[in-house]
Amino acid sequence: MNAENFKMIATTFKGLEKVLAREVQELGGQRPRPLVRAVEFYGDRGFMYKANLRLATALRILKPLAHLRNIKSVAALYDKIKAIPWEAYFDAGRTVYFHISGRLDTLPHTHFVSQKAKDALADRFREITGYRPSVSKENPDVRIDLHLFRDQISVSLDASGEPLFKRGYRTATGPAPINEVLAAGLLRLAGWKGQTHLLDPMCGSGTIPIEGALMAANIPPGIFREKFGFMQWKDFDADLYAHIRNAVLKHVREPLEIIRIMGYDKEPYMVEKAMKNLQSAGVEQFVHCEAKDFFRTRKIPGPVTMVFNPPYDRRLPVARRDEFYRRIVRHLEENYQRAEVWIISEQSFDPYFNRRPFRRFQLMNGKIPVTFAGYKMD
Ligand SMILES: C[S@@+](CC[C@H](N)C(=O)[O-])C[C@H]1O[C@@H](n2cnc3c(N)ncnc32)[C@H](O)[C@@H]1O
Repeated sequence: MNAENFKMIATTFKGLEKVLAREVQELGGQRPRPLVRAVEFYGDRGFMYKANLRLATALRILKPLAHLRNIKSVAALYDKIKAIPWEAYFDAGRTVYFHISGRLDTLPHTHFVSQKAKDALADRFREITGYRPSVSKENPDVRIDLHLFRDQISVSLDASGEPLFKRGYRTATGPAPINEVLAAGLLRLAGWKGQTHLLDPMCGSGTIPIEGALMAANIPPGIFREKFGFMQWKDFDADLYAHIRNAVLKHVREPLEIIRIMGYDKEPYMVEKAMKNLQSAGVEQFVHCEAKDFFRTRKIPGPVTMVFNPPYDRRLPVARRDEFYRRIVRHLEENYQRAEVWIISEQSFDPYFNRRPFRRFQLMNGKIPVTFAGYKMD
């Protein structure tokens, strides 16, 4: 292994760990290992830049700095955070923010932990440089990740800064857009590789077809962003970043000519939004988007993979929702023979189909547990 390799942690949503590990492996990351909502791997600085640009199913790339043990008192927390050579990683002039996940059994007040960590970091900078970095929750230059567990803290620098689902292409959204990282994960869980037609018949702001087009054209999902966390670090190598950025762009290609990527929505204003997003992602020539009521559509010839999240309105009476879902399934059975249909929904579609799904995944859509199930139509 390259001597300059270091450990990184890519975080993701529950249920996407394996697809993310595969992405890391395919990109050339060393020793990818799925964890809970994360994947550990090794690589050098250039790989860290590439991972931020290329990984479609990662939420953040973290660079661990220290693993602190025996945090049994406020004094221990303060001393151990202060002992980290922060000035080696970034300048005192940067604004910082501590993001905390998990919880310490020994010091259960999380807010207090972040306050003490900030004091320790600021005091160290003041003693060494005469300046103290200021804290900014909105748009900090440097985001520090503290993962608390029992009496331990993993301290990492966040190489992504803003989470990676903020691709930068989605300017217009509807009431319930799916997260970009989740959409990219669904396509990979469904095993879609750009070899069959892809249809999202209820595409809303177009996230699923856009992520499909990025994948089929090998467009790095992070390419639209101007900022990543690592750009604020002392060791940021702008030439290396420019080189990596150019190199990943060389792999962009046209999707296979024989496949079509399509999105329909019955609301013309949603289709307008989707079109705007397609344009800002630069994939409008690869995706056909149209205002169409699903119940008036038919399958186009050739193998089709459908991936969609039908509307789920908790305010709707169950009987009406039941009727709507039953209609969806009836329409699929009558008009989408031999399509592979993947549905992400809070409520299982099994009772409406006369078949069991051939694959099923339990995922989270935000805070809501959902099922992602694939059905093969006869
Ligand atoms: C949960 S949203 C999909 C969100 C989308 N994945 C995104 O990222 O924005 C469901 C969409 O289904 C659309 N819809 C509802 N009934 C429909 C129908 N009969 N035909 C087509 N679209 C429909 C709604 O207009 C809404 O945009």
